Amino acid sequence: MLRIALAFALTLGAFGCKRSAAATSSEGADLFANACARCHGADGSGGLPLFEGGPSPRDLRDPAFQRSHGDPQIRMTIVNGKGSGMPPFGATFTDAQLDALVAHVRALEAEKTK
Ligand code: HEC
Repeated sequence: MLRIALAFALTLGAFGCKRSAAATSSEGADLFANACARCHGADGSGGLPLFEGGPSPRDLRDPAFQRSHGDPQIRMTIVNGKGSGMPPFGATFTDAQLDALVAHVRALEAEKTK
Protein backbone atom coordinates (compact mmCIF):
# COMPACT_ATOMS: atom_id res chain seq x y z
CA MET A 1 0.00 0.00 0.00
CA LEU A 2 2.74 2.42 1.03
CA ARG A 3 4.68 1.29 -2.03
CA ILE A 4 1.76 2.17 -4.31
CA ALA A 5 1.15 5.55 -2.70
CA LEU A 6 4.83 6.28 -2.98
CA ALA A 7 5.05 5.28 -6.63
CA PHE A 8 2.10 7.57 -7.27
CA ALA A 9 3.72 10.41 -5.39
CA LEU A 10 6.95 9.91 -7.29
CA THR A 11 5.10 9.93 -10.60
CA LEU A 12 3.38 13.15 -9.61
CA GLY A 13 6.73 14.56 -8.63
CA ALA A 14 8.18 13.67 -12.00
CA PHE A 15 5.44 15.56 -13.83
CA GLY A 16 4.87 18.29 -11.28
CA CYS A 17 6.41 21.69 -11.55
CA LYS A 18 10.13 21.50 -11.06
CA ARG A 19 11.97 24.37 -9.55
CA SER A 20 14.97 25.31 -11.60
CA ALA A 21 17.97 23.24 -10.65
CA ALA A 22 20.16 24.92 -8.07
CA ALA A 23 23.68 23.69 -7.49
CA THR A 24 22.26 20.28 -6.59
CA SER A 25 20.22 17.81 -8.57
CA SER A 26 16.60 18.80 -8.70
CA GLU A 27 15.73 15.11 -8.96
CA GLY A 28 17.14 14.52 -5.51
CA ALA A 29 15.19 17.47 -4.17
CA ASP A 30 11.96 16.23 -5.75
CA LEU A 31 12.45 12.70 -4.44
CA PHE A 32 13.21 14.01 -0.98
CA ALA A 33 10.14 16.27 -1.03
CA ASN A 34 7.92 13.37 -2.05
CA ALA A 35 9.34 10.47 -0.08
CA CYS A 36 11.17 11.88 2.93
CA ALA A 37 9.93 15.36 3.82
CA ARG A 38 6.77 14.20 5.58
CA CYS A 39 8.97 12.80 8.32
CA HIS A 40 12.22 14.72 7.94
CA GLY A 41 10.83 18.14 7.03
CA ALA A 42 11.36 19.76 3.65
CA ASP A 43 14.66 21.19 4.89
CA GLY A 44 15.75 18.00 6.67
CA SER A 45 15.49 19.61 10.07
CA GLY A 46 13.68 16.60 11.51
CA GLY A 47 10.51 16.57 13.52
CA LEU A 48 8.46 14.98 16.20
CA PRO A 49 8.45 11.23 16.83
CA LEU A 50 6.04 9.44 14.50
CA PHE A 51 4.43 7.62 17.39
CA GLU A 52 4.55 7.98 21.15
CA GLY A 53 7.93 6.90 22.44
CA GLY A 54 9.28 6.42 18.92
CA PRO A 55 12.56 7.84 17.66
CA SER A 56 12.55 11.39 16.25
CA PRO A 57 14.02 11.95 12.82
CA ARG A 58 17.29 13.72 13.54
CA ASP A 59 18.39 17.03 12.05
CA LEU A 60 20.01 15.91 8.81
CA ARG A 61 21.56 19.38 8.43
CA ASP A 62 23.69 18.84 11.54
CA PRO A 63 27.39 18.99 10.53
CA ALA A 64 28.21 16.34 13.15
CA PHE A 65 25.74 13.96 11.50
CA GLN A 66 27.10 14.81 8.05
CA ARG A 67 30.67 14.12 9.17
CA SER A 68 29.91 10.88 10.94
CA HIS A 69 27.87 9.25 8.16
CA GLY A 70 29.36 8.19 4.84
CA ASP A 71 27.44 8.13 1.57
CA PRO A 72 27.14 4.30 1.57
CA GLN A 73 25.68 4.45 5.08
CA ILE A 74 23.01 6.96 4.06
CA ARG A 75 22.23 4.83 1.03
CA MET A 76 21.87 1.73 3.22
CA THR A 77 19.56 3.60 5.58
CA ILE A 78 17.26 4.49 2.69
CA VAL A 79 17.22 0.92 1.37
CA ASN A 80 17.08 -0.94 4.71
CA GLY A 81 15.48 1.62 7.00
CA LYS A 82 16.57 2.26 10.54
CA GLY A 83 15.16 1.19 13.87
CA SER A 84 11.41 1.38 14.34
CA GLY A 85 11.01 4.82 12.81
CA MET A 86 12.61 4.85 9.39
CA PRO A 87 10.89 2.58 6.86
CA PRO A 88 12.96 0.52 4.43
CA PHE A 89 12.44 1.69 0.85
CA GLY A 90 13.85 -1.54 -0.58
CA ALA A 91 13.78 -1.49 -4.37
CA THR A 92 11.62 1.65 -4.56
CA PHE A 93 14.45 3.75 -5.97
CA THR A 94 16.80 3.08 -8.86
CA ASP A 95 20.55 3.38 -8.32
CA ALA A 96 20.52 6.81 -9.94
CA GLN A 97 17.67 7.94 -7.68
CA LEU A 98 19.56 6.70 -4.62
CA ASP A 99 22.59 8.70 -5.75
CA ALA A 100 20.41 11.78 -6.18
CA LEU A 101 18.86 11.31 -2.73
CA VAL A 102 22.24 10.90 -1.04
CA ALA A 103 23.49 14.00 -2.85
CA HIS A 104 20.43 15.90 -1.65
CA VAL A 105 20.93 14.79 1.95
CA ARG A 106 24.50 16.07 1.62
CA ALA A 107 23.25 19.37 0.23
CA LEU A 108 20.98 19.93 3.24
CA GLU A 109 23.97 20.87 5.39
CA ALA A 110 24.93 23.66 3.01
CA GLU A 111 21.36 24.92 3.05
CA LYS A 112 21.55 25.49 6.77
CA THR A 113 24.63 27.65 6.59
CA LYS A 114 23.39 29.75 3.68
C1 HEC B 1 7.92 7.41 8.05
C2 HEC B 1 8.87 8.45 8.38
C3 HEC B 1 10.18 8.52 7.61
C4 HEC B 1 10.33 8.57 6.24
C5 HEC B 1 9.26 8.55 5.17
C6 HEC B 1 11.76 8.69 6.02
N1 HEC B 1 12.45 8.67 7.22
FE1 HEC B 1 14.47 8.79 7.44
N2 HEC B 1 14.24 8.51 9.45
C7 HEC B 1 13.03 8.49 10.13
C8 HEC B 1 13.28 8.32 11.55
C9 HEC B 1 12.23 8.25 12.64
C10 HEC B 1 14.70 8.25 11.69
C11 HEC B 1 15.48 8.02 12.98
C12 HEC B 1 15.60 6.53 13.18
C13 HEC B 1 16.45 6.16 14.40
O1 HEC B 1 17.39 6.90 14.72
O2 HEC B 1 16.14 5.10 14.98
C14 HEC B 1 15.26 8.39 10.36
C15 HEC B 1 16.62 8.39 10.07
C16 HEC B 1 17.18 8.75 8.85
C17 HEC B 1 18.58 8.98 8.60
C18 HEC B 1 19.68 8.92 9.63
C19 HEC B 1 20.20 7.53 9.78
C20 HEC B 1 21.27 7.47 10.82
O3 HEC B 1 22.18 6.68 10.58
O4 HEC B 1 21.21 8.13 11.86
C21 HEC B 1 18.71 9.31 7.29
C22 HEC B 1 20.00 9.63 6.52
C23 HEC B 1 17.38 9.29 6.72
N3 HEC B 1 16.48 8.95 7.68
C24 HEC B 1 17.11 9.60 5.41
C25 HEC B 1 15.85 9.48 4.83
C26 HEC B 1 15.59 9.64 3.42
C27 HEC B 1 16.62 10.06 2.39
C28 HEC B 1 14.25 9.40 3.24
C29 HEC B 1 13.47 9.40 1.94
C30 HEC B 1 13.95 8.48 0.92
C31 HEC B 1 13.68 9.09 4.54
N4 HEC B 1 14.67 9.14 5.46
C32 HEC B 1 12.33 8.80 4.77
C33 HEC B 1 11.78 8.57 9.57
C34 HEC B 1 11.51 8.58 8.21
